[in-house]
Amino acid sequence: MLRISRGQGRWRQVVWAGVAAALLAGGAGCKQKMSYQPRYDPLERSETFNDRSSARPLPAGTVARGFLRDDPEVFLGRKENGDYATEFPFPITEEVMRRGQERFTIYCTMCHGFSGYGNGMIVQRGFSPPPSFHAPETREKSVGYYFAVITNGYGAMPGHAHQIPVSDRWAIVAYVRALQLSQNASLDDVPAAHRSALDAPPPAPMNSRSADPHSANSHSGGAR
Ligand code: HEC
Repeated sequence: MLRISRGQGRWRQVVWAGVAAALLAGGAGCKQKMSYQPRYDPLERSETFNDRSSARPLPAGTVARGFLRDDPEVFLGRKENGDYATEFPFPITEEVMRRGQERFTIYCTMCHGFSGYGNGMIVQRGFSPPPSFHAPETREKSVGYYFAVITNGYGAMPGHAHQIPVSDRWAIVAYVRALQLSQNASLDDVPAAHRSALDAPPPAPMNSRSADPHSANSHSGGAR
Protein backbone atom coordinates (compact mmCIF):
# COMPACT_ATOMS: atom_id res chain seq x y z
CA MET A 1 0.00 0.00 0.00
CA LEU A 2 2.62 2.47 1.14
CA ARG A 3 4.92 1.72 -1.74
CA ILE A 4 2.18 2.11 -4.22
CA SER A 5 0.98 5.46 -2.92
CA ARG A 6 4.57 6.80 -2.80
CA GLY A 7 5.05 5.70 -6.35
CA GLN A 8 1.85 7.38 -7.47
CA GLY A 9 2.94 10.64 -5.78
CA ARG A 10 6.23 10.74 -7.64
CA TRP A 11 4.57 9.87 -10.89
CA ARG A 12 2.16 12.83 -10.46
CA GLN A 13 5.00 15.27 -9.75
CA VAL A 14 6.85 14.23 -12.83
CA VAL A 15 3.78 14.57 -14.99
CA TRP A 16 2.89 18.03 -13.67
CA ALA A 17 6.41 19.29 -14.15
CA GLY A 18 6.31 18.03 -17.71
CA VAL A 19 2.95 19.66 -18.42
CA ALA A 20 4.13 23.00 -17.00
CA ALA A 21 7.29 22.95 -19.08
CA ALA A 22 5.39 22.08 -22.20
CA LEU A 23 2.90 24.88 -21.63
CA LEU A 24 5.66 27.45 -21.09
CA ALA A 25 7.73 26.40 -24.05
CA GLY A 26 4.80 25.65 -26.35
CA GLY A 27 2.95 28.85 -25.40
CA ALA A 28 5.91 31.09 -26.06
CA GLY A 29 6.85 29.35 -29.30
CA CYS A 30 3.27 29.40 -30.49
CA LYS A 31 2.86 33.12 -29.86
CA GLN A 32 5.95 33.94 -31.83
CA LYS A 33 4.90 31.93 -34.87
CA MET A 34 1.37 33.31 -34.95
CA SER A 35 2.53 36.91 -34.68
CA TYR A 36 5.33 36.79 -37.21
CA GLN A 37 4.08 34.60 -40.01
CA PRO A 38 5.84 35.29 -43.29
CA ARG A 39 3.34 36.76 -45.76
CA TYR A 40 3.05 39.43 -48.44
CA ASP A 41 0.65 42.34 -48.48
CA PRO A 42 -1.12 42.76 -51.83
CA LEU A 43 1.31 43.98 -54.50
CA GLU A 44 4.22 44.00 -52.02
CA ARG A 45 7.73 43.80 -53.49
CA SER A 46 9.38 40.41 -53.33
CA GLU A 47 13.10 39.65 -53.38
CA THR A 48 12.41 36.03 -54.29
CA PHE A 49 11.38 36.46 -57.91
CA ASN A 50 13.30 38.10 -60.73
CA ASP A 51 10.53 40.57 -61.54
CA ARG A 52 10.32 41.52 -57.82
CA SER A 53 6.56 41.00 -57.87
CA SER A 54 4.98 38.96 -55.07
CA ALA A 55 1.75 38.61 -57.11
CA ARG A 56 2.46 35.58 -59.28
CA PRO A 57 0.75 34.66 -62.56
CA LEU A 58 -1.06 31.31 -62.63
CA PRO A 59 1.19 28.54 -63.94
CA ALA A 60 0.21 27.78 -67.56
CA GLY A 61 -2.59 25.28 -67.82
CA THR A 62 -3.99 25.66 -64.30
CA VAL A 63 -7.74 25.95 -63.93
CA ALA A 64 -9.66 26.79 -60.78
CA ARG A 65 -11.79 23.91 -59.55
CA GLY A 66 -15.19 24.00 -61.28
CA PHE A 67 -14.00 26.35 -64.03
CA LEU A 68 -12.81 23.88 -66.65
CA ARG A 69 -14.27 25.13 -69.93
CA ASP A 70 -13.63 22.02 -71.92
CA ASP A 71 -16.61 22.11 -74.28
CA PRO A 72 -16.33 24.89 -76.89
CA GLU A 73 -19.91 24.27 -78.01
CA VAL A 74 -21.23 25.18 -74.55
CA PHE A 75 -18.80 27.95 -73.63
CA LEU A 76 -18.00 29.56 -76.99
CA GLY A 77 -21.01 28.61 -79.10
CA ARG A 78 -18.63 26.95 -81.55
CA LYS A 79 -18.08 23.40 -82.70
CA GLU A 80 -14.70 21.68 -82.50
CA ASN A 81 -13.96 22.82 -86.09
CA GLY A 82 -14.65 26.48 -85.19
CA ASP A 83 -18.02 26.80 -86.93
CA TYR A 84 -20.89 28.29 -84.95
CA ALA A 85 -23.00 25.70 -83.14
CA THR A 86 -26.32 24.99 -84.82
CA GLU A 87 -27.93 23.16 -81.88
CA PHE A 88 -28.57 24.15 -78.29
CA PRO A 89 -26.17 22.36 -75.90
CA PHE A 90 -29.02 21.35 -73.56
CA PRO A 91 -32.75 20.68 -73.93
CA ILE A 92 -34.93 23.79 -74.07
CA THR A 93 -37.70 23.26 -71.55
CA GLU A 94 -40.49 25.65 -70.64
CA GLU A 95 -38.47 26.59 -67.55
CA VAL A 96 -35.44 27.50 -69.69
CA MET A 97 -37.68 29.52 -72.01
CA ARG A 98 -39.21 31.50 -69.14
CA ARG A 99 -35.77 32.15 -67.71
CA GLY A 100 -34.65 33.34 -71.14
CA GLN A 101 -37.63 35.67 -71.42
CA GLU A 102 -36.89 37.17 -68.01
CA ARG A 103 -33.18 37.63 -68.76
CA PHE A 104 -33.91 39.04 -72.23
CA THR A 105 -36.27 41.55 -70.63
CA ILE A 106 -33.57 42.62 -68.20
CA TYR A 107 -30.53 42.70 -70.48
CA CYS A 108 -31.67 43.18 -74.08
CA THR A 109 -34.99 45.02 -74.33
CA MET A 110 -33.64 48.51 -73.63
CA CYS A 111 -31.91 48.31 -77.01
CA HIS A 112 -33.59 45.52 -78.98
CA GLY A 113 -37.15 46.20 -77.78
CA PHE A 114 -39.54 43.70 -76.17
CA SER A 115 -40.33 42.08 -79.53
CA GLY A 116 -36.82 42.32 -80.96
CA TYR A 117 -37.44 44.93 -83.67
CA GLY A 118 -34.52 47.01 -82.44
CA ASN A 119 -36.57 49.93 -81.14
CA GLY A 120 -35.79 49.74 -77.40
CA MET A 121 -36.11 52.75 -75.14
CA ILE A 122 -32.51 53.93 -75.33
CA VAL A 123 -32.65 53.61 -79.12
CA GLN A 124 -35.71 55.87 -79.08
CA ARG A 125 -33.54 58.29 -77.08
CA GLY A 126 -30.71 58.23 -79.62
CA PHE A 127 -28.57 55.07 -79.21
CA SER A 128 -27.51 53.36 -82.46
CA PRO A 129 -30.38 51.12 -83.58
CA PRO A 130 -29.62 47.37 -83.65
CA PRO A 131 -30.84 45.29 -86.57
CA SER A 132 -34.24 43.67 -86.17
CA PHE A 133 -34.17 40.04 -85.06
CA HIS A 134 -36.88 39.48 -87.69
CA ALA A 135 -34.84 40.60 -90.70
CA PRO A 136 -34.18 37.54 -92.91
CA GLU A 137 -30.39 37.85 -92.63
CA THR A 138 -30.59 37.98 -88.80
CA ARG A 139 -33.07 35.12 -88.55
CA GLU A 140 -30.87 32.76 -90.51
CA LYS A 141 -27.92 33.16 -88.09
CA SER A 142 -27.21 30.04 -86.01
CA VAL A 143 -27.79 29.74 -82.27
CA GLY A 144 -24.03 29.64 -81.68
CA TYR A 145 -23.71 33.01 -83.44
CA TYR A 146 -26.27 34.54 -81.09
CA PHE A 147 -24.49 33.04 -78.10
CA ALA A 148 -21.17 34.48 -79.29
CA VAL A 149 -22.66 37.96 -79.88
CA ILE A 150 -24.13 38.02 -76.36
CA THR A 151 -20.80 36.81 -74.97
CA ASN A 152 -18.40 39.06 -76.88
CA GLY A 153 -20.54 41.96 -78.06
CA TYR A 154 -20.82 43.14 -81.64
CA GLY A 155 -19.96 46.60 -82.98
CA ALA A 156 -21.79 49.12 -80.83
CA MET A 157 -23.21 46.39 -78.61
CA PRO A 158 -21.19 45.60 -75.47
CA GLY A 159 -20.38 41.99 -74.49
CA HIS A 160 -22.36 40.51 -71.62
CA ALA A 161 -20.04 37.68 -70.50
CA HIS A 162 -19.38 39.30 -67.14
CA GLN A 163 -23.08 39.93 -66.45
CA ILE A 164 -24.88 36.88 -67.81
CA PRO A 165 -23.81 33.32 -66.90
CA VAL A 166 -23.37 30.80 -69.72
CA SER A 167 -26.63 28.91 -69.14
CA ASP A 168 -28.60 32.17 -69.07
CA ARG A 169 -27.00 33.27 -72.36
CA TRP A 170 -28.28 30.07 -73.97
CA ALA A 171 -31.70 30.60 -72.39
CA ILE A 172 -31.80 34.10 -73.92
CA VAL A 173 -30.91 32.67 -77.33
CA ALA A 174 -33.81 30.23 -76.98
CA TYR A 175 -36.16 33.12 -76.22
CA VAL A 176 -34.88 35.12 -79.20
CA ARG A 177 -35.70 32.08 -81.34
CA ALA A 178 -39.21 32.07 -79.84
CA LEU A 179 -39.59 35.78 -80.60
CA GLN A 180 -38.50 35.16 -84.18
CA LEU A 181 -41.00 32.36 -84.59
CA SER A 182 -43.74 34.51 -83.05
CA GLN A 183 -43.27 37.19 -85.72
CA ASN A 184 -42.98 34.83 -88.65
CA ALA A 185 -45.55 32.17 -87.92
CA SER A 186 -48.46 31.35 -90.18
CA LEU A 187 -51.89 30.09 -89.19
CA ASP A 188 -50.73 26.56 -90.07
CA ASP A 189 -48.15 26.74 -87.26
CA VAL A 190 -50.91 27.13 -84.67
CA PRO A 191 -52.37 23.82 -83.47
CA ALA A 192 -56.01 23.60 -84.59
CA ALA A 193 -57.26 23.45 -81.01
CA HIS A 194 -55.75 26.86 -80.27
CA ARG A 195 -56.82 28.72 -83.42
CA SER A 196 -60.06 30.04 -81.99
CA ALA A 197 -58.04 31.73 -79.22
CA LEU A 198 -56.37 33.92 -81.86
CA ASP A 199 -59.51 36.04 -82.18
CA ALA A 200 -59.61 36.66 -78.42
CA PRO A 201 -58.10 39.92 -77.12
CA PRO A 202 -54.38 39.48 -76.43
CA PRO A 203 -53.38 38.65 -72.83
CA ALA A 204 -51.47 41.24 -70.81
CA PRO A 205 -47.75 41.19 -71.67
CA MET A 206 -45.89 38.73 -69.45
CA ASN A 207 -43.43 41.38 -68.31
CA SER A 208 -46.25 43.57 -66.98
CA ARG A 209 -46.76 42.84 -63.32
CA SER A 210 -49.29 45.61 -62.71
CA ALA A 211 -52.05 43.07 -62.06
CA ASP A 212 -50.22 41.89 -58.96
CA PRO A 213 -48.86 44.74 -56.83
CA HIS A 214 -47.04 42.37 -54.44
CA SER A 215 -45.19 40.76 -57.27
CA ALA A 216 -44.34 44.17 -58.73
CA ASN A 217 -42.87 45.26 -55.42
CA SER A 218 -40.84 42.16 -54.84
CA HIS A 219 -39.40 42.21 -58.34
CA SER A 220 -38.50 45.88 -58.66
CA GLY A 221 -37.16 46.14 -55.14
CA GLY A 222 -39.70 48.74 -54.03
CA ALA A 223 -42.92 50.50 -54.93
CA ARG A 224 -42.78 52.58 -58.06
C1 HEC B 1 -26.74 48.87 -75.31
C2 HEC B 1 -27.63 48.39 -76.31
C3 HEC B 1 -27.68 46.89 -76.56
C4 HEC B 1 -27.89 45.88 -75.64
C5 HEC B 1 -28.08 46.02 -74.15
C6 HEC B 1 -27.91 44.67 -76.40
N1 HEC B 1 -27.69 44.91 -77.71
FE1 HEC B 1 -27.56 43.53 -79.18
N2 HEC B 1 -27.01 45.00 -80.50
C7 HEC B 1 -27.00 46.34 -80.23
C8 HEC B 1 -26.56 47.06 -81.39
C9 HEC B 1 -26.44 48.59 -81.51
C10 HEC B 1 -26.28 46.10 -82.38
C11 HEC B 1 -25.72 46.35 -83.78
C12 HEC B 1 -24.25 46.62 -83.62
C13 HEC B 1 -23.57 47.08 -84.85
O1 HEC B 1 -24.01 46.74 -85.97
O2 HEC B 1 -22.55 47.77 -84.69
C14 HEC B 1 -26.57 44.81 -81.78
C15 HEC B 1 -26.44 43.60 -82.43
C16 HEC B 1 -26.89 42.39 -81.93
C17 HEC B 1 -26.88 41.16 -82.65
C18 HEC B 1 -26.29 40.93 -84.02
C19 HEC B 1 -27.34 40.96 -85.06
C20 HEC B 1 -26.77 40.71 -86.43
O3 HEC B 1 -27.25 41.31 -87.37
O4 HEC B 1 -25.82 39.93 -86.56
C21 HEC B 1 -27.47 40.22 -81.84
C22 HEC B 1 -27.69 38.75 -82.13
C23 HEC B 1 -27.82 40.88 -80.60
N3 HEC B 1 -27.45 42.20 -80.69
C24 HEC B 1 -28.41 40.26 -79.52
C25 HEC B 1 -28.54 40.86 -78.27
C26 HEC B 1 -29.02 40.18 -77.10
C27 HEC B 1 -29.54 38.77 -77.08
C28 HEC B 1 -28.93 41.07 -76.06
C29 HEC B 1 -29.23 40.83 -74.60
C30 HEC B 1 -28.39 39.85 -73.95
C31 HEC B 1 -28.39 42.29 -76.59
N4 HEC B 1 -28.18 42.12 -77.92
C32 HEC B 1 -28.15 43.42 -75.84
C33 HEC B 1 -27.33 46.94 -79.03
C34 HEC B 1 -27.55 46.27 -77.86
